[in-house]
Amino acid sequence: MTAAPILPPPSPLAAPLAARRLHVITWGCQMNVYDSGRMADALVPAGFTEAAATPETADLVILNTCHIRDRAAEKVFSELGRLRLLKEDRARAGGRMILAVAGCVAQAEGEALIARAPFVDIVLGPQTYHRLPALLARAEAAPGEPVLDTEFPPEDKFDHLPQPTPGAIPGAAPRITAFLAIQEGCDKFCAFCVVPYTRGAEQSRPAAAVLDEATRLVAAGAREITLLGQNVNAWHGAGPDGATWTLARLLAALAEIPGLARLRYTTSHPRDMGDDLIAAHRDLPALMPFLHLPVQSGSDRVLAAMNRRHTAADYIALIARLRAARPDLALSSDFIVGHPGETEADFQATMALVRALGFAQAYSFKYSARPGTPAAAAPDQVAEADKDRRLAELQALIRAQQARFNAACVGQTVPVLVTGPGRHPGQLAGRSPWLQPVHFFGPPALIGAEIPVTIAAALPNSLSAVRQERTAA
Ligand code: SAH
Ligand code: SF4
Ligand code: F3S
Repeated sequence: MTAAPILPPPSPLAAPLAARRLHVITWGCQMNVYDSGRMADALVPAGFTEAAATPETADLVILNTCHIRDRAAEKVFSELGRLRLLKEDRARAGGRMILAVAGCVAQAEGEALIARAPFVDIVLGPQTYHRLPALLARAEAAPGEPVLDTEFPPEDKFDHLPQPTPGAIPGAAPRITAFLAIQEGCDKFCAFCVVPYTRGAEQSRPAAAVLDEATRLVAAGAREITLLGQNVNAWHGAGPDGATWTLARLLAALAEIPGLARLRYTTSHPRDMGDDLIAAHRDLPALMPFLHLPVQSGSDRVLAAMNRRHTAADYIALIARLRAARPDLALSSDFIVGHPGETEADFQATMALVRALGFAQAYSFKYSARPGTPAAAAPDQVAEADKDRRLAELQALIRAQQARFNAACVGQTVPVLVTGPGRHPGQLAGRSPWLQPVHFFGPPALIGAEIPVTIAAALPNSLSAVRQERTAA
């Protein structure tokens, strides 16, 4: 792991050649989606000005990986097996395909990844993406010698990454709705979770940098911005006025940007839900009435074992305050079933919490032991069959709640942000304030507008709607 220069030297191959082609495969959270876009931006000066639709035609393939559960990490190795064959084909034809592994598996596995897949050219962790052009130049200069950079460098990568270009790579940054990372890393150390190890300590970007990036995204056509962080509501950044701002203060400043219609933030921790952030849900019309606030379990015993440092009653009280501030707030959460020590009674406490609160949607996972985390070493692991049964029971409840929430929208006229063409000719796609995908017929000129539509039918994962003829863009 040698120190790479911060500013990339010009790649010896880049300048005179035709456009090079990049293919990025992204797994994991929205932060990875955002990061994939930023890596693509960073590679433009190295000649990567075209996106390859498939790895077969790419000069550089980046796997942006996720380590959160065992299955997520294993996918990387099966994809690498497939790419190895492509790389060998390319070499036989006299060409070269560079293969890079980025993201949380790269950070967690490092040298071990190279040992298992020595044909990989570059392994880089999430904090070194600004060094990608330099790492690429090194890999190109020395074929067969994998380059590794999983440092947590002292410099801030955001100071060295070029400004984002919405839509730089397919799937990374749709134009109308954009992600903006404002906070990274986590200091919470939940017993089950790898994120504090793969992303490092909590860091907040300065408010001015966030406002500047948001202004650029809006100038490029974004109407909705989702602020991202592993613990986004722990954000506390230097404000342009010299004071330390909270997320609520930042949201208020972002809401002033002309042309920016909608704001969201994800993912939050219940302990960082400050009074002013709750008040922001009441006071900022641009802040959408949808909150993803993971609770993980409804059992105090399990919450304590998870090191979440709040009780089920704390969470329920918090939701009551949020709903008092914003009565139409829809809720989303993450749940883990089968955490070490979880009994049937603990699981039923989770079911009771879900029934008591009602979720518009939620993600639920079977506990997956992650190397190096405290929960992985706990003696009271839950049998796989119990995890399966609990997951099925919880998911059936969540599906029913989601269906009920969607069905309750039928007949309502709601503002929809039109994000692009729909699947069928003449159709448009958009999203409701509560993050539901909405489909309706209308002209492409409406893309980017926020318009009222009347919900006609609820499908399992989306709504179909009819446009109101008098529209206000
Ligand atoms: N920072 C966010 C979540 C990040 S990970 C938060 O604090 O809520 C996204 C979700 O993956 C978590 O909320 C959790 O539900 C799930 N998860 C994390 N580690 C897991 C593990 N070891 N097994 C199963 N699910 C896990
Ligand atoms: Fe993981 Fe917990 Fe941090 Fe979320 S708060 S990223 S679950 S350690
Ligand atoms: Fe996965 Fe890393 Fe995100 S482990 S969920 S890609 S922070």
